[in-house]
Amino acid sequence: MTEIHLRAYGKINLSLDVTGVRPDGFHDLSTVMQRISLYDRIHMVWEPESPNQEGNGLQKEKGLRIRIRTNRPYLPTDERNLAYKAALLMEERFGRQAGVGSGQLSISIVKNIPVAAGLAGGSGNGAAVLIGLNRLWHLGLNTRQLCSLGEELGSDVPFCVLVQNTRYRAALATGRGEVLRPLRKSMKKYIVLAKPPFGVSTKEVFRHIDEYHAECHPDNQALVQGLAAGDYEVVCRNMINVLELYTLEHYEPVKKLKEIFAEKTPAEKVLMSGSGPTVFGIYSSEREAKKACETIRSLRYEAYWASTDGR
Ligand code: C5P
Repeated sequence: MTEIHLRAYGKINLSLDVTGVRPDGFHDLSTVMQRISLYDRIHMVWEPESPNQEGNGLQKEKGLRIRIRTNRPYLPTDERNLAYKAALLMEERFGRQAGVGSGQLSISIVKNIPVAAGLAGGSGNGAAVLIGLNRLWHLGLNTRQLCSLGEELGSDVPFCVLVQNTRYRAALATGRGEVLRPLRKSMKKYIVLAKPPFGVSTKEVFRHIDEYHAECHPDNQALVQGLAAGDYEVVCRNMINVLELYTLEHYEPVKKLKEIFAEKTPAEKVLMSGSGPTVFGIYSSEREAKKACETIRSLRYEAYWASTDGR
């Protein structure tokens, strides 16, 4: 039996621009993504079946049995879960090569990152399973190879692989979100994340976003340079998420939450992450962030404080 403990970090989008529609129906993006200190705990246990259990190796039917447990009863634990999909993908590609044969993979997920929130919680879990199986099965895949596998699971998975498997904490992502330019310098701030009591489907937001004409777009090159120089005026000026156009119009509570952050806390900037509904505020100190978090919680929102984990 072998086991591994991993941290699956969440992310925020410091900016997000939609630059076109692709022939496959996906959208071309330009987005600066930043790892945050909030993470889910992933514990994986691999129990290969011994040759005896397999009938002295004569058994023809070999396979991987996957068991997922989470602390969120409403989460699916079958093929609909990205962690499950990631395990299936690894078995399909490398099961034979790694000689893993039959066995049981138990994955326990302790979720701290809100679900369907625009924080890549599910994508991070998928990324952790790719990284975990690479180690448990001694596959020797590098980060680039794991990112390409991640692409098959979802647009945010390659970024999650990058920030879990390397020292990078931020990247400029283009293409579907899978073409990554890792950034040597990332944001060094405190944040408060809050979400209204519902999820927003990424698919729904992208399905409608072409009907909107954004007047303001982030200059992501400037944003990246601002991060490199530690110039937060430039960074904040370019913290724009064009997906807000749809979500804020159709989900009034998200708009209200943005207003609350701006009016009741000393946030340097307030933005929605990904397709929402999570809204985050940026703060210079831990003290400010903790106080802002209390304020938002006192208004009965689910809220967390975290750091952006910058280097
Ligand atoms: O890749 P992921 O599964 O996270 O995407 C969810 C949905 O969001 C996709 O099915 C697609 O409809 C939409 N999407 C998009 N363009 C992107 C990323 C996602 O249209 N770059």
